[in-house]
Amino acid sequence: MKKMLLTATVAVAAAGIVLSGCAKKDTTKMIGIAMPETHVERWQKDGAALLEDATSKGYKAEVAYGDADQGKQNQQIQDFLTKGAKLLVVGSVNEGVVSAVSDAAKDNVVVIAYDRLITGSSDYDYYITFDNYKVGQFQGKAIETALDLPSATKAKPKYITLFAGSPTDNNAKVFFDGAMDILRPYVASGAVALVGPAPQKSSDPDFTKITTENWKADIAKTRMENLLNNDAAKVTLDAILAPNDTLARAIIEACSADDKYTSKLPVVTGQDGEVASIAAIRDGKQTMTVFKDTRSLAKATIELADAILKGETPNIAGARFSDTEYDTGKKLVKAYLLEPVIVTKDNYKAVMIDSGYYKESDIK
Ligand code: BGC
Repeated sequence: MKKMLLTATVAVAAAGIVLSGCAKKDTTKMIGIAMPETHVERWQKDGAALLEDATSKGYKAEVAYGDADQGKQNQQIQDFLTKGAKLLVVGSVNEGVVSAVSDAAKDNVVVIAYDRLITGSSDYDYYITFDNYKVGQFQGKAIETALDLPSATKAKPKYITLFAGSPTDNNAKVFFDGAMDILRPYVASGAVALVGPAPQKSSDPDFTKITTENWKADIAKTRMENLLNNDAAKVTLDAILAPNDTLARAIIEACSADDKYTSKLPVVTGQDGEVASIAAIRDGKQTMTVFKDTRSLAKATIELADAILKGETPNIAGARFSDTEYDTGKKLVKAYLLEPVIVTKDNYKAVMIDSGYYKESDIK
């Protein structure tokens, strides 16, 4: 009896080896996915989609969120390296990620900079993101159209206040420069009067006065409240350039508490197509957002990862190879760029719901 049991156990164990042997064949290569934060909704979608796509291509994959803390994210990257990851998809918190990227390079682990350029590093070759300059241009154009800027005059200017994203995120600069590409001529002619700090480009020293550390909503809300009580106290703002939806809603909240704006809010831009902002657009509180389909970015990234790991030449469906190079400060990298889509009250149903990104019932 004892012998039979033993035999059975050995047989089961042997079957286990065979099974894990098969599984191992499919999952020898691990992909580590490091996302920067969860307080901005999109990253949870990015993380989930990357994980699903990597797993369905037969990779072993893990995702970690850095909570906007670079030290924490570096630790997560070290853990991926310890576990033997062969490739890392990194949406970095800030430039402090370079030491972890350098450790990866020493281990011959490929790094793909995801959505955000990793600045200050020469230890990676791949960058995949959306056309972020175009995201900014969409924001600028939405203000231009909503305020009919071509008809505005110096005698009766439109009053606009500027906000930008995190000073440690290269994207924040690109969004701002894209938006100012559209707005700058109107500032020059006097048709637009900027209220508060008035940088014209992200390289202007005043840029840091309009940035929002780590894209935190409470920081933007407090800054908006201060503006309403100081620089903007004597005018009625026509528009606010807000870089993303999380900050747009914080800004709208601050304005809504001011008597001046209870019946008519300023035009407020955004980006990401967050569910609460889609509701705000439907309700006429937020003017627009820019949809960057995280499903497409994740899919393209895993296609890129798969090609790299198989030693094939990447040919990524739905992404164009950028004409310009992105300067990390240490090297130039070319990017795979996906197309953003402008979203307004007129097309939010087609873009956000018909595409299956949200269900109608999600928009509360
Ligand atoms: C992303 C935006 C996001 C922001 C804050 C940027 O790098 O491109 O989509 O809203 O970070 O998380």
